[in-house]
Amino acid sequence: MKLQGKVALVTGASRGIGRAIALELARNGVKRLLLVARDRVQLAAVAQEVRALGVEAVPLAVDLTDPAAIQITIAQAWRDRGPFHLLINCAGIAHQTPFLQSKLPQVQDEVALNLMGMYAITRSVARRMAARSEGTIVNVSSLMGKIAAPTMSTYSATKFAILGFTQALRGELAKHNIRVVALLPTLTDTDMARRLQLFRGVMPVTPETVAKSLIKGLKRGSSEILVGWQSHLAVWCQRLAPGLLDWILRLAAPNSKLNRWAFGSRQ
Ligand SMILES: NC(=O)c1ccc[n+]([C@@H]2O[C@H](COP(=O)([O-])OP(=O)(O)OC[C@H]3O[C@@H](n4cnc5c(N)ncnc54)[C@H](OP(=O)(O)O)[C@@H]3O)[C@@H](O)[C@H]2O)c1
Repeated sequence: MKLQGKVALVTGASRGIGRAIALELARNGVKRLLLVARDRVQLAAVAQEVRALGVEAVPLAVDLTDPAAIQITIAQAWRDRGPFHLLINCAGIAHQTPFLQSKLPQVQDEVALNLMGMYAITRSVARRMAARSEGTIVNVSSLMGKIAAPTMSTYSATKFAILGFTQALRGELAKHNIRVVALLPTLTDTDMARRLQLFRGVMPVTPETVAKSLIKGLKRGSSEILVGWQSHLAVWCQRLAPGLLDWILRLAAPNSKLNRWAFGSRQ
């Protein structure tokens, strides 16, 4: 995919991976960026960074758990600043809890944003893209959308679901000339990761690394973009020796007895 002169909408653009993707798209020649998140102040700061790279930036403060607000925002943005060629669904939240202590409201939060929010904005944008027979949609899943890990059951469930959603849309929207891509970041140094108890032995990458992998994958025409050698290794290990991977995950999980025995307790 050529990015020069394109219009892209990035959700979760106020910080973390979404911000890094917006800046990397700006460096790669997009014409206009629509930046979606809730925090107006942070969005305005990212918009300034984008403009400093010579690219038009339009901050759109919207809560993606509010389907009516999404409908109105997309209709207005498409009319005034569209059409969009690229939708990057990056906004997401993660709650980490041992399953037996998990709380329904946290699961509802994850489903409301990671799944229902993604569904609502994708439907709104994809209908318009289909009418023009042109577009690319990137859904940000996670390595945890391929390999589920202890303490992350409900987050992993939403990220597995995103891969299913993406695969189905890829087949369905191809006839409208819409490409649908999954991005699977590994652990990335953002506010989200800073709130988690980390898995031992997993080295975080930077949001910029994730953004650069996405751009490379888009240019290559990949339909699933894994980030970093640890992710490739983990996915291969799951294919070739799933029992071994399960054992490693249990060993590395936060607060596991094995983890404390093997690495000492710092958590
Ligand atoms: N960090 C990692 O290790 C990692 C690894 C794999 C995959 N991922 C995925 O990558 C994506 C970005 O994660 P991140 O690490 O960059 O997280 P982050 O730093 O916590 O950023 C989350 C982004 O989502 C936005 N957001 C949250 N709730 C929202 C809502 N209700 N409506 C609109 N926007 C909302 C936030 O903006 P506001 O608060 O301003 O609304 C922010 O821009 C997520 O989908 C995550 O699951 C992250």
